[in-house]
Amino acid sequence: MANTGKARAYTNIALIKYWGKKDDDLILPMNSSLSLTLDAFYTETTVHFDETLKEDQFYLNQTLQNPTQTKKTTRFLDLVRHEAGITTPAIIESTNYVPTAAGLASSASGFAALAGAASLASGLELDLQALSCLARRGSGSATRSIYGGFVEWQMGSNDLDSYGVPIDDASSWDLAMLFVVVNQKEKVISSRDGMKQTVATSPFYSGWLESTAKDLITIKEAIKEHDFQKLGETMESNGLKMHATMLGATPPFTYWEPDSIQAMQFVAELRQEGIPCYFTMDAGPNVKVLCHKSDLPKIKAKFATIFQETQLITAYPGPGIQLSKGDFY
Ligand code: DP6
Repeated sequence: MANTGKARAYTNIALIKYWGKKDDDLILPMNSSLSLTLDAFYTETTVHFDETLKEDQFYLNQTLQNPTQTKKTTRFLDLVRHEAGITTPAIIESTNYVPTAAGLASSASGFAALAGAASLASGLELDLQALSCLARRGSGSATRSIYGGFVEWQMGSNDLDSYGVPIDDASSWDLAMLFVVVNQKEKVISSRDGMKQTVATSPFYSGWLESTAKDLITIKEAIKEHDFQKLGETMESNGLKMHATMLGATPPFTYWEPDSIQAMQFVAELRQEGIPCYFTMDAGPNVKVLCHKSDLPKIKAKFATIFQETQLITAYPGPGIQLSKGDFY
C-alpha cells in the first residue's frame, strides 16, 4: 500500500554508556558510546499516512493511546513530515516484542523502528546514516539500533554528524547476555531526567567524560583483538563509573536495588570460580551479564539458585533494522 512503511528494530545495550546531552533538542550527546544490538527484544512498527485522519492515531501493543501518550510520537512524526514536505496525519501501530514478564520495553528499538517506518511511508529516501540521525531525535540510544552487532555512536557536533557506525557484526564472537530482571516497575527517574541532573550537578561528571573517552578506545581495541576479558572489564568499569556520577548529583540518586547489588557480587564470585562474565546496568535496577555463549547454561543455572527462572532472560547479538514497504519481510 502506498504511504505505508514498516520496520523492525532491535534494542541495544551500551557497553560504553551515553550519559548526558550537550543539546537537548537535537539529542547530541556529551560523549561517544558503544553498544551491542540484541536479538531478544525488538519493536515492529507500521506507519500509514492517511488524508482522511484528523490527527495521528497511535496504537501501542494493540491499544489506542490517548493524546498525552501520543504526544512524543506526533512530535517525532512532525520532524519526518517537515522533512518530507507533508502535513498528513498517520496511523501508527507499534508492538514491542519483549519476553513475557520482562518489563523491558525500550525507547531504542521503539524510536529506531518509528524512524524507519515513518521515513519509508513519507517517501523519504534515507540511507542508514541519515536514518540513524533521525532515530537519534527520538531517543539517543535509538541512534545505535539501526545496525546489528557492535555499534559506535559517534557524538559529532551537529544534527548531521552525530550517528551510529557499525563496528563489527559480532557474528564471529561467541557472545550471550543474561538479563537478570530485578524489578519490572516503571523507573522513578527517567534516563532523560537522570542524565540532565547529573550533568548539571555532579562534580564527578568531568571525570566520567575523561575516562569514557579512554574506555571507548580500549573497548574498540578489545573488539578488534577479539579479547573478551578486555571487553568485559572495560564494559563493567565504564558502567560502574556512570552509576558513580549519579551518587555525586544533587540531589543524589541511584537505580540500584539490593538485588542489583547481589547480582553484581554474584558475577564477581562466578569469575573467581573461573567463569568469565561481566555485568553492566542502565537507568534501572536490572543487571545484564555478558558471557561466552558456551558458558551461558552454567551461568544461568548458577543464577537460578538465587533468582527465579522467570527473572532470567537470554539474549544474543542481533541484526540491524529491517524495513519493508509492503507486507512483512
Ligand atoms: C543509561 O537513550 O533512553 O541506557 O536520549 O533522553 O531518550 P534519551 O535517553 P536514552 O538513554 C540511555 C541511557 C543509558 C545508556 C546508553 O544506552 O548508552
